Formats: sequence, C-alpha cells, structure tokens
Amino acid sequence: MLPVIGALRPWADPALVSIHRLPMHVPLTGFERTSLDGSWQLEMFAHPDRVPAAAVTGERAGAVSVEVPGNWTMQDLGGFVDLPHYTNVEMPFPGPPPRLPARNATGVYRRSFTLPARWLRQRCVLHVGGAESVHAVYVNGQFVGYGTDSRLPSEYDVGPFVASGNNEVAIVVVRYSAQSYVEDQDHWWMAGLHRSVWLESRPAVHLSDVPVDVGYDPATGDGSVEVSGVVDFGGAPEAGWSVRSTLRGPNGRRIGRVMTEEVPHRDARPYVFEGFRTTSRWTVRGAKAWSAETPSRYSITVELIDDRGVPRQTEVQHVGIRSVEVRDRQLLVNGQPVWVFGVNRHDHHPDRGKAVTVDDMRADLVAMRAHNITAIRTSHYPNDRAFYDLCDELGFYVFDEADIESHAYNTSLCDDPSYRATWLSRGARMVERDRNHPCIIAWSLGNESGDGVNHHALATWIRSTDPSRPLHHEGEILHGGWVGIETNVSDIVGPMYPDIDAIREYGEAGAGSRPLIMSEYSHAMGNSNGSLADYWDVIVSTPGLQGGFVWEWKDHALRQRASDGTTRLAYGGQFGDTPNDGNFVADGLVSADLEPHPAMRELAWVHRPVTVDRSRGGLRVENRRSFADLADLRATWELLVDGDVDRRGTLRVPRVAPRSSITVPVPVDVPGPAHEVLLTVRWQTRHETWFAPAGHLVAWDQVRLRRRRTARRPSGSEGAGAGELVAPRLNLWRAATDNDGFKLMPEKRRRRAPNVALRHWQAAGIDVRSADELVDHDLRVERDEHGTTYRHTVDVPESLADLPRVGVSFELPARFDRMRWSGRGPHENYPDRNRSAMSGVWEGPPDALPYLVPQEFGLRTDCTWFELIDTVAGQAVRIDAGRPATMHVSAVRHTAGELFAAGNVVDLPPSDRLVVCLDTAHRGLGTASCGPDVLPRYRLAPGRYEFSYRIALVDRS
Ligand code: GAL
Repeated sequence: MLPVIGALRPWADPALVSIHRLPMHVPLTGFERTSLDGSWQLEMFAHPDRVPAAAVTGERAGAVSVEVPGNWTMQDLGGFVDLPHYTNVEMPFPGPPPRLPARNATGVYRRSFTLPARWLRQRCVLHVGGAESVHAVYVNGQFVGYGTDSRLPSEYDVGPFVASGNNEVAIVVVRYSAQSYVEDQDHWWMAGLHRSVWLESRPAVHLSDVPVDVGYDPATGDGSVEVSGVVDFGGAPEAGWSVRSTLRGPNGRRIGRVMTEEVPHRDARPYVFEGFRTTSRWTVRGAKAWSAETPSRYSITVELIDDRGVPRQTEVQHVGIRSVEVRDRQLLVNGQPVWVFGVNRHDHHPDRGKAVTVDDMRADLVAMRAHNITAIRTSHYPNDRAFYDLCDELGFYVFDEADIESHAYNTSLCDDPSYRATWLSRGARMVERDRNHPCIIAWSLGNESGDGVNHHALATWIRSTDPSRPLHHEGEILHGGWVGIETNVSDIVGPMYPDIDAIREYGEAGAGSRPLIMSEYSHAMGNSNGSLADYWDVIVSTPGLQGGFVWEWKDHALRQRASDGTTRLAYGGQFGDTPNDGNFVADGLVSADLEPHPAMRELAWVHRPVTVDRSRGGLRVENRRSFADLADLRATWELLVDGDVDRRGTLRVPRVAPRSSITVPVPVDVPGPAHEVLLTVRWQTRHETWFAPAGHLVAWDQVRLRRRRTARRPSGSEGAGAGELVAPRLNLWRAATDNDGFKLMPEKRRRRAPNVALRHWQAAGIDVRSADELVDHDLRVERDEHGTTYRHTVDVPESLADLPRVGVSFELPARFDRMRWSGRGPHENYPDRNRSAMSGVWEGPPDALPYLVPQEFGLRTDCTWFELIDTVAGQAVRIDAGRPATMHVSAVRHTAGELFAAGNVVDLPPSDRLVVCLDTAHRGLGTASCGPDVLPRYRLAPGRYEFSYRIALVDRS
C-alpha cells in the first residue's frame, strides 16, 4: 500500500480536493526552472490499492518508458492494456457517485533528477501541469502531496524532501476517481500526465503572485492598470523589502512613473492587514485598448527588491487594457457590442490525445482565423496557459470554462455538499491562474452540471474576486428560463441548440438585461450545419442576440494502428470501449487532422467581417467589425452575365467606420433584361498576416443585379445522345447523414429520426427497393440532334412526405474524372447550407468523402448545366436543366448503398465508377444529431414533382 496516501484513499473521497498543494497564482516566469518533460518510467497497476509502497521508490521491473507530456492511453504500455474510452453523458462505469470501478488503472510515473547545490538552500517547487484524473506526488519515497482537477496545474513544495545528488520523483496517477463524476464531459476518457512537469527554485522570500486589474473608460479613452505584488516571506516577515513596478506600452516605451512600494510588515494590525502585498496603479491617458481586432498589449515588470536594494526576482506580465460589461442586453467590449463568431474547442490531437503542443494550438488558431472565427469557448475546461497567451497575442475572445461537468448526475451533485469544495476549487483556481489575460471576456461555471448551490457559491466567489468580467452559466436555463430575473447567476443567456424561432422570440420580447449568446449551436457532426445562415439572418437583425459558439471545432477521432501496420481514424467503441457513444465524438468543423469540412466555408461566410448587398443607390457595404475599418482588405468585383464572367475590376470603397455602412455605386453598367446578371464582390487581405498569405479571401458576396425576364431554355450545345452510356433511374434516397438519425447507432437513430420517409427508408434498406414501386412515376424520353431529353412526373404520396430527394441517378465509368458546372460552388453545398457558395462556372475533380463516417456528400445546388468529363478521351456527358431551370447535382465515386452500409472509411470499396445524381429537390441537412432538424422550407412536401433535363455526349478535346 502507498505510504500515507494508501490509508487515506483520497481518490475515492469527493470532499478531498488536495493535500499540501500550494495556492494557485498567475503564471510566473521569474524563477529558475528545470524541465522534467521527456522520458519517464511508468509502472501500471489495475487499482490504486494494488500499488506497493516500493513502487514509488527507485527502479523496478515491469516499468515501461513513456513520454511526458502524454496520455498513457495513447502510448505502448508493454503487456498492460489501458485504452481511450469514449462516452458522452453516461459514465464509463456504473455509479452512483462516488462509486468507482473494480479495475481502475493506476500508473506510477518515476524519474530521477539532480539539483544544482544552490537550489537546496531555496524553496523547490514541483509543477504538475495536468494529470488525469487525480495524482499523488512522492519524492525520494516520501509522500509530498495530492491534487485533483485534470486540467489545471498543481504545485508542491518538495524542498524538505530533496537532497544533493540524485533524487527520485514519483507521480501516482489514478485514472478514475470521485472527481471523475465532475469531469464527465463528452470526449475521450484518457489518463496520465498530459501537460508539462517542471521544478522551480523559489527563494525563501519571493513574489508568489502578481494579479493585475485593468480598467478602461470608453468615453474618455483612458485606462487604468493596477498590479499587486504578493510577497511570500516563507516565514517571519522581514523589514526593508519593496516591490518596483514599471508599466510599458505596446511600443515598449515606459508609461508614467516607476513605482516602488514598501512591502508592509510592521503595520500588520488586526482587521486592516491585507497581507504582504503592494499595489501600484497607473492611469493611462489615451490607452491603446485591447480587442480581438486590435490585440495591443502592455507589459508590467514587477521586481522584488531586498532590504539591501538588490533586485531578487523579476516578473513580466502582458496585459491588455480593455473593459467588458453587460449592458442593455449587450455584451460590450470597450463600450462596443461585438459579434461572437465562436466555436467550442477541446484539446485534441489524433496521435497525442489531450497532450497538445503549442504548435498544435497555434495551428488550430491559424485555421480558425482563416475562417473568420474570433471567439472560443474552452469547452469544457481550462486549457494550458500557453493557449491564453496565444489568444491574447493573436486576438481571440475567450469564454474560459471551469472543469466542471457532472452530466450523468446533472441535477444532484451541484447541490451535494461533499462536492462543494470541488466546485469552488475548480472555478476559483481557474480565475486565480487566468485573470491577467485580456482575451478572457467571461468566466464560465462549467458545462452540463445542472444549476445548484455549488454554482451559486462559486459565482459569488468569482464576482467578489473579479468583478470585471461577466459570468456564463448555461445550466441556469434549467431553472431560470431565458427571460430571467436579475438575480441570475449567469450574466449571459447561453442556451444550447435552440431553434431559430426561440432565439428570435427572446430577442423580440425585449425582456431582461442580458444578451443571448448560444453556448453551443449548429452541431457539426458529419454532413451538417444546415441553416447556419438562417441563424445569422436572425442574429444580426434582432437586438439582444450576439452570436454563439458552434459545436464543435474538431473531430476527436484517434489514429489507431492495426497489427498489419495500417491506420485508421477511430471513434468510440473501436478500442473495445463499452459503453460508448460511437462516432458522436466526431462532430467537428475540421477533421482530427485539421482538414476543414465543407461547412467551414459557410461558417467563414456567415462570420465575414464585411457584407455587401443591393441597396437603392447601389451597393451597401457594411463593416461588421467593432473597432477596425476595412483598410487591410482589397475589394474586387466580377460581373456574371448568364453565368459567365463578363468583366472584372477593383471596387473603390471609401473608409467604412466600424459597425457602420456606406453605399457605393454599382461599378459597371448592367446588361439588358434578357440576361441574368450577378455581381460578385470579394475582399482579400492586402498583406501577409499571421494566419494567411496576402490575397487571402476574407469575405465575399454575390448580389443579383438583374433577373432574367424569360425562363431559360437548355442551351443548344451540339452533341450526340448519350443513351448507350446513361440510363437515369428514379432516385428518392440518400445515404443517411449523421443528422438523418444516428447513422451508426440504430437504437438512437430510431429515437432521433422522426420523419416518416427516413424511417421507411431505413426499414426498407437503401437501394433494395426500386423507387418506382413507391411512387407514381411517368417518364417521357425524346431524342433530337442535341441529345436526349427526359421528362419526369413523380407523385409523392402523403405517406412518403419528407423524402431525402426527388431526382434520378446513373453511373459512369471512372474515366470520367472531372466535373465542370454552372451553379453554386466551388465547394459542396446543400439547400440549407449554400449561401457561401457563389453562382458561377466551376471545375474540379469529384470530391473525396470529407467525413469520417461514409454518408451522403458532394452536392452542388442550383446548377443550370453540369458536365462529367473524360479528360483523356476529350469527351463529356453534359446535362442541361430543362424545367425547372436549375437542378442539384452530385458526382461521387460511391453509390448511396455503399456509403450507407460502410461503417468506417477503411471499409469503403475501391471505386471503378462515378455515381451521378440529379435532383429537382433535395432535403436540407439540419443538425438533428444534436439540435433542430431541417426547417420546414427545406423539406420535401408530398405532391407532384415535374422536371426535365437533357443529356448529351459532347466534345471536350
Ligand atoms: C452538448 C455538450 C457537448 C456535446 C454536445 C453534443 O450538450 O455540452 O459537450 O456533448 O452537446 O455533441
């Protein structure tokens, strides 16, 4: 049994959050530091009770070598098997709290270190950056301390336990604990030391914290900065010590006086003593305010000076002068409302699991900003300190969230006194560490943990400690509703997955004082994010609504290596983990490898910082930024006449002030009424930025300058009939998307797929029944010198209301390897996710499956013609829309049946053909995997569908 700790069994005690852990503080850099990252010995046990005392001392057989930071669940443990486990709401083992599983993998990490002799005269602190789920520290075989909260660092004074020469540190990490019940987030259960570990030498007298408070008055433009130097004397306070503080502006120049304050020691009177801290304060006239658009940072140097006038420690903190407040149903930064163009982000890497590097974080942020994402909710726990430094520097608004989610016991633990200390320590320690970061504009009390007295206690603590930021608490909706009473814990109304009508109603009701910012919306699972633009139409036009955070940034798939060396991206259940929630873990806007899914184009578009639409006097250009003008962007226009580019030019736009609009004349003469005329305006960066090279496309819009007066007829392209090659068959089905019901989880699918047609389809099995047997279908075929014209009449009965599609499909040999079309593009788009897709003539190879799990993909909407080209033979199958004048087309390498049946990408059969689908109607995507289903206007009503098209074989040599 482990010395000391074994008798206590703290991992099983919800009320015990730490033993001998040092207080939290803002990140300090002024101490000498030795990294302990790298290779550690790890010895695994099936349960913490099975760890012998000898395991925390010295070399032992059976230990393997692993990397720290790292999750042991992602590393080779020799003979011991302990793999990632995915559950969403359900705990991975049966409760109730604090019950723990009989097998509870426990790892003893060990390594040796030597310390410089001078360190032995000082305090020596061990920093454990992140350990999932709880950990105990031993040095030279002696128990040092114990800590909880997988996502915040713990520090211990190991000074009394170290000696000169060789030292041994052991960190015992227990995979599941009573604390796991408040870490029940929807992601992989991992284990191990997933963030950095180091040793720090702190002098007996040192600065132990330097919290900074900033203020900004938007009316005057003046700011204030107040820094405290908290001195730890490590014993009796001494006389004569002082703290010297210097403030510097974004250009590095000193501002105001250098402040030197004596550390109080003698005047320590009862009732007025405020600790050994000094406070220095500056007023900054005409401050350069921090915002995500203008991330200017000031620096404060804080020096601890000893009683002989010698500087002993220097700390530098980068801060931003800015204000945040909620007023009149708006979240204001520096007095201005800001749009919350947000995503929820988990730490995730397909190979490293939770152990993300600074480069991984930066890569996420680069891809985000390249798609106009400017806000992040750190769902559902605090990130590594480096993440906030990046967000400060690069300019992101952050909702920083405490590591509190008790989803499986949503309504009980939040009122449970044995978990009160857990709630408080998790929230308070987050604030104590992160408070100096300007990027953080709200504190979040956790996720899916109900709404109980423990939240209320935490809210009170945060409000008293940091009144400068609003609180976000989604769970409050359980009690307070949306239109809340002013005593609410949350300063923001943050619903999850609300209907568009519901947020509109909130806005229009005009009640209360709080803005609505959706904590989660538009669930990006598979082919998804239908109606993103419909959400934003309502958000920008309804007071009280400010945006939200899409769920979620990245698929959490993990790279899994089979015994034959092949790899695949795996989801829940594929590690033998039971119970599990399957591919629900893969619901990101980007793949686990950071490949953007097509919906990212739509998100970039709805978030675009500048919009253009048709107005009376010309074009209305609106700047949606809150602080910056558009001088960094260059605007160009393109005139499309009947789908073809007619002319191009530069759009001259005078200065557009933040959050305002101007009207500029249409830059070109508009051709006559026989033509359809569209104008595309594109905004590109003038210069290289941290997220993209010069010329990066930031915003785009297409405005209609003229509608065609008469309906368009198929063009008279010369061609032969393609009858011997093409035989279109009626097609009513699509391979279920993740949002047509849980594709891979039939029992959940049944609950989720409410619409009759989909249920019918699932029961029948795709491709098994001929569509002609289900509906009345009449087809007339006419051949002429231009090709073959097909005229369909389809009567969809009431019983098949809400079909996936009405159209036809046919197959071509794989040598047809390119597509060219006039319609929306260039990227995949669907009727409820196509506002980012501009009309034009586009060309490219058929899409590869962009989603982890095979499903419907690849559609292009509103096409007037579509060509499938055999580039070698110089021949194309050309389809011209007849009536109606447009159609939706996809050309992919798999049949719907194959896509529907395949479990994972590795199971997809190799393709020797191209499957072409032409639809006169196609159901939208919606987000019903978690959220509203397709809006009624994007569904297929029963009734008569008449459509025609002409197919011809044409020369493209
Ligand atoms: C929310 C939850 C997220 C995630 C999402 C669905 O309820 O907060 O963590 O589970 O649903 O993917």
